[in-house]
Amino acid sequence: MNIVLLGPPGAGKGTQAKVLSKEFGLLHISTGDMLRNAAKRGDGIGKKAAGYIERGELVPDEIVVSLVVSRISQKDAEKGFMLDGFPRNTKQADILSLALEQKNKKLDLVLYFSTSEKVSVERLSGRRVCRKCGSNYHVKNMPPKKEGICDACGGELYQRPDDKEETVKNRLKVYDKETKSLIDYYRSQGLLREINGDMEVGDLFGVIKAIFVKEGLDG
Ligand code: AP5
Repeated sequence: MNIVLLGPPGAGKGTQAKVLSKEFGLLHISTGDMLRNAAKRGDGIGKKAAGYIERGELVPDEIVVSLVVSRISQKDAEKGFMLDGFPRNTKQADILSLALEQKNKKLDLVLYFSTSEKVSVERLSGRRVCRKCGSNYHVKNMPPKKEGICDACGGELYQRPDDKEETVKNRLKVYDKETKSLIDYYRSQGLLREINGDMEVGDLFGVIKAIFVKEGLDG
């Protein structure tokens, strides 16, 4: 099955994607992670993307689209994938449909995390990420056992530079202006399933699982 996770910054898309990936063996493709890794490596794409990410703006379509189209063409994506952070505007969404059509594939579902701005901001300001393995924590909601240290690998936890207050405000504005229109875009195609992103992690996972079962996507 091929799924898109849609929702504002901090909605919990990445957190659910990690659990869903374990439970259903689905490949998790996060464009944010891909771009941040490229920026860390300092390669051509990374250098171009870094400034946009820092400012909380969208990285130009041509960069992101080529990354995604090449990633979903790899062998490990044949059985299905979960796109987290892509598409982010209707142009990216159109290109995704076309790329899938050319492979005789389609999107099965778009999970829309409907999340209040207050919750998004609270989650992003408290998010901490492991430098080594990328595990996600929250200072209040999902604290590590030892402050500043990753439970999974012992790596150092840090705050993403784009999780600072000013950048978060800009990311939310960009979401409203560029990405929100995808809700109607996918609703009109009958693909959208809305879930309450403000819910607690385990409860939300239960709701998503129930949707998968209802749609016959759990097999
Ligand atoms: P990206 O990395 O995709 O960021 P985002 O969409 O802003 O999403 P986040 O990762 O911030 O939030 P999330 O919903 O995954 O929440 P999470 O699960 O981590 O993009 C970053 C940048 O890259 C963009 O600004 C742009 O520059 C560029 N980019 C990426 N894709 C692009 C594209 N397609 N086109 C152009 N540019 C692109 O959770 C957040 C926190 O809350 C965590 O601390 C977590 O522990 C906690 N939490 C999660 N769920 C819950 C819950 N249910 N209850 C309580 N706490 C929770």
